Amino acid sequence: MRPSILNLACVFLVLFSSSFSPSLGDPRVSEAGILCLKSNVTSTASIVSNFLDVMRKIAATVTEDRWANDSVTSPLPEIYALAQCHGDLTSDDCLLCFAQSRTILPRCSVLAANSGRLYLDGCFIRFDYYNFFNETVDLQHDMVKCANQSSVSAGQQARQQFAAKVDRVLTNVSAVAPENKGFAVFGEARRGGVAGVYALAQCWNTLDDKGCRECLANAMIRARNCTPGDEGRAMNAGCFMRYSTQRFYTVPTDADSLKLGIIIAIALSVAAATSLVFIVAYVGYRKLSKKREVQKKFFGVPAIVRKSNLNFNYELLEKATDFFDESMKLGQGGAGSVYKGILPDGRVVAVKRLVFNTRQWVDDFFNEVNLISGIQHKNLVRLLGCSIEGPESLLVYEYVPNRSLDQILFVKNATHVLSWQERVNIISGTAEGLAFLHGPCGVKIIHRDIKSSNVLLDEDLTAKIADFGLARCLDPENSHLSTGIAGTLGYMAPEYLVKGQLTEKADVYAFGVLVLEILSGRKNSIFGQASGSVLQSVWKQYKSNRLAECIDPVLKGKFPVSEALNVIQNALLCTQASPDLRPSMSEVVEMLNDRECIVPMPMQPPFLNNNPIPDDSSRSSNTNTGITNQLTNSEISSASTISLR
Ligand SMILES: *[C@@H]1O[C@H](CO)[C@@H](O)[C@H](O)[C@H]1NC(C)=O
Ligand SMILES: *[C@@H]1O[C@H](CO)[C@@H](O)[C@H](O)[C@H]1NC(C)=O
Ligand SMILES: *[C@@H]1O[C@H](CO)[C@@H](O)[C@H](O)[C@H]1NC(C)=O
Ligand SMILES: *[C@@H]1O[C@H](CO)[C@@H](O)[C@H](O)[C@H]1NC(C)=O
Ligand SMILES: *[C@@H]1O[C@H](CO)[C@@H](O)[C@H](O)[C@H]1NC(C)=O
Repeated sequence: MRPSILNLACVFLVLFSSSFSPSLGDPRVSEAGILCLKSNVTSTASIVSNFLDVMRKIAATVTEDRWANDSVTSPLPEIYALAQCHGDLTSDDCLLCFAQSRTILPRCSVLAANSGRLYLDGCFIRFDYYNFFNETVDLQHDMVKCANQSSVSAGQQARQQFAAKVDRVLTNVSAVAPENKGFAVFGEARRGGVAGVYALAQCWNTLDDKGCRECLANAMIRARNCTPGDEGRAMNAGCFMRYSTQRFYTVPTDADSLKLGIIIAIALSVAAATSLVFIVAYVGYRKLSKKREVQKKFFGVPAIVRKSNLNFNYELLEKATDFFDESMKLGQGGAGSVYKGILPDGRVVAVKRLVFNTRQWVDDFFNEVNLISGIQHKNLVRLLGCSIEGPESLLVYEYVPNRSLDQILFVKNATHVLSWQERVNIISGTAEGLAFLHGPCGVKIIHRDIKSSNVLLDEDLTAKIADFGLARCLDPENSHLSTGIAGTLGYMAPEYLVKGQLTEKADVYAFGVLVLEILSGRKNSIFGQASGSVLQSVWKQYKSNRLAECIDPVLKGKFPVSEALNVIQNALLCTQASPDLRPSMSEVVEMLNDRECIVPMPMQPPFLNNNPIPDDSSRSSNTNTGITNQLTNSEISSASTISLR
C-alpha cells in the first residue's frame, strides 16, 4: 500500500502547489503603446516634485488595491495620475507590471511638461495636468496596435469566419465587463479549422458602467479592424481591449478548482480507504501551514542549493530577526526591508526581505548569489547567503554597524559631523569598491543604484557599498526594477533615465553626484527647488571660482583647498552629460590618489536647462549645448524602440 500513498501524496503536492502558488503567473510587461504629449502647462520648478508626489501616492495604493487614482493640486501645476492592473493579474504580477511601467514612463519627460499614457499588456499608467478620470474616448489620441501577421488562410470565407469569431468574442467581453467590475476575458477555442480567439476587456475603475460601456463599444470597433491579423489591441483613454489567437490572459481560478475537484475525486476512488486517513491528516496539516509549506515543497529546492553553505534555513532567520520584529528593522531599501539578525552562533547579520519574490528565477537567483558572495573587497558589503525555500526570499549580508551614509550626512544637528578627512576616505573607499565591481573581479557588475543610502559605514567609517549585483537577476529584462525609482532619480545618468542605456558609466555618474553630496552635505535634487540642485550650484560655483562655497559649511573652512579642488573636479568629470566623456572608475581612483595628477577640465553637467537629455546627434560636434536641445516626440518614440526591452 505504501507506494500508492506516496503516489497520492505526490498528486496532492502537485495539485496543491499549482493551485496555491498562483502568485506568479505572467506579469505581461511587454509594451503595447506609449503616448507622450506636450501639454500646455508651463514647466515650473514644482512640476517634477508634484509628479514624484503623485507617483508615490499611487504606488502606495497600487500595492494594496492593484489600482489607484490620485492628484496633487498645489503648488501648480495640478497633476493627476491613474494606474491600474488588468483584472486577471495576481498582486505580485501587478506589482511587477507597475514597477516596469514606472521605469518606462520617464520617457515622457515631465521636465518638458509632457503628459504620458503607457499601456503594457498587463497594466496601464497615465499622468496628465487635468482631471481625466472620467474620460472614455479620446478620438485624437487613442491608439490601436494590430499584428501584421496572420495565420488565417487567405480565402475569403476563412477570413469572414475568423472575423465573425473575433466579433463574437469581443461582443461578449464588452457586454460582460461593465457588470463585472470593468473586467472580462472570454475565449473560443479552435474549431472547424477556425483559429481560437481570446479576448480581454478592461475599463479603468474611475469610470462608471455607462462610461465603461461607451469606451468598450468604441474599442471593439477599432480592435475588430485588426482582423485578419492574429492580434489586435485598442488603447483608449478609458479602457483597454485586446484579442489574440493565443490565450494570453491568466485563466480565472474557478476553472482550476473545478479541475482540481475532478482529479481529487478520481484520486480518492483509486486510492480508497487506507489513503483516506493520510489525506485527512495531510489536509489538516496543510490548513495549518498552507502557505509556507506549499512553496517550500513546490520549489523542491535543488540539492546543490540545499547543501551549499550559502543556504540559510528560513526558520533560523525568522528566529534570528525575532520574526522580523519592527525593533530589528534597520532600514527600507528599494528591493526590500532590512532587519538585524543574531544567529545562534552569535554572529550578527543583516537580513533583507525581498519585495519582489524571486522564486520564479530560483536558479538564476541562486547562481547570482553564488557569484556575488564570491566577490570580496573591503569596500563592498559581503553577501553571506540566502534563503529561498521559505515563503519569501531572504538575503543574508554581513552586518555593518554604523548605518548608511545618508543617515549621517543629511541629518541636521547630527551627533557626529564627518570631518574632511573622513569624507575623503569615504569617497576613496566608495570609488575603490566601484572600480572593483567594474573591473578585475572577473564579472563586470554594474551597480545601478549608487546613492548615499547604499553606502554603509562600519566602525572605522570605512565605506561599504551595499546592494550590488542582484538587480541583474531581479529583472532579467535589464531595467531598473523598483517602484521607488523616484528616490534615485537625482542619481540617474541622463542616458539611462531617458533611453535605458545602461553601462558602467551610469554608475560613474551616480558616483559623481554622491561625491558632490558628501562634499556639500546637501542632498541632490534635479528640480531646482528652494535649495536648487547640488550639481547645478557646484557647477556655477566652480565656473566662477567660488570653490569654498561648495563645501559643507559645518566644516567651517577646515579643508585643504587644492585637495578639495581635485575632488570637486573629479566629481564634475563624472557627471558630464556624455557617458563617453566620463572617466572610468579606475581612472577616478587614480586621480583621487595621485595628488600630482592633472585632472582634466570638466564639461557642463546635464539637468541645467530643464532638459536632462544629451542629444546624440550633437554629441560629436558640440557637447556643451547638446544638452539644451529638446527631444522631439519622434525622437522619444525612436528612443523607446531601442531601449528597455
Ligand atoms: C490647457 O488645455 C486645457 C484643455 O486641453 C484647457 O482646459 C486649459 O484651459 C488650457 N490651459 C492653458 C493654460 O492654456
Ligand atoms: C478617483 O476618481 C474618482 C472617479 O472619477 C474620483 O471621484 C475620485 O475623487 C478620484 N480620487 C482621487 C484621490 O483623486
Ligand atoms: C467629466 O467631468 C467633468 C468635471 O469634472 C465634466 O465637466 C465633464 O462633463 C465630464 N465628462 C463626462 C464625459 O462625463
Ligand atoms: C509589421 O509591419 C511593420 C511595418 O509595416 C514592419 O516594420 C514590421 O517588421 C512588421 N512586423 C512583423 C512581425 O512582420
Ligand atoms: C459570454 O460568455 C459566457 C461564457 O460562455 C456566457 O456565459 C455569457 O452568457 C456570454 N455573455 C454574453 C453577453 O454573450
